[in-house]
Amino acid sequence: MLKKRLFRLALLCAIGLMIGAGMGFLQLRGEKNAQVVQKDPRPAPMAGVQVGGPYTLVDQDGNTVTDKDFAGKYKLIYFGFTYCPAICPTELQKITGALKELGAEAENIQPLFITIDPERDTVPVMKDYVALFHPRLVGLTGSRAQIDAVMKGYRVFARKAQDPGMNDYTMDHSSFIYLMSPDDTLISMYRVEDNADYIVRDIKNRFGVQ
Ligand code: NI
Repeated sequence: MLKKRLFRLALLCAIGLMIGAGMGFLQLRGEKNAQVVQKDPRPAPMAGVQVGGPYTLVDQDGNTVTDKDFAGKYKLIYFGFTYCPAICPTELQKITGALKELGAEAENIQPLFITIDPERDTVPVMKDYVALFHPRLVGLTGSRAQIDAVMKGYRVFARKAQDPGMNDYTMDHSSFIYLMSPDDTLISMYRVEDNADYIVRDIKNRFGVQ
């Protein structure tokens, strides 16, 4: 029992460190430069780490959506914001590319984009945005409280930052693509430097798809 608990604790620490490192990285470099790849050793396997949990949000058509609506499907989930100049669109394109490469194998994978900036990412903004990436991409927004709750569940870091070149604010945020199982346990987390081919290979390796 104790051994199991210690093991889980170690895993949680590992993920905490990784997310911490990711945050520091983004804060130090600023999002626009975050694509400069930093070579890190692969993080420890993430299976079994407690990430996720129930949520209630609003999709790009204005429908109330909960985690239960995607039960039985694998999920590729990305948290970001539509005003993001570089990282978010790149990561969403990566999801699109991976789904395309997987072809029929991707049919039971639901891509989700959850905004960290619900003040600007309203339902109509989300509708226009997700249409740029994939016909099955679901965009989720909600009240600040709903978004805070889902971010907490997925251990997503985000904060407003003044963009010196603009009158408006931008967002610093952690950037991971989460692969969740049909029963909402974490299978994999992909980083900025993991490309679409890497995601496809990882999914095929895990599911035994050739
Ligand atoms: Ni972004």
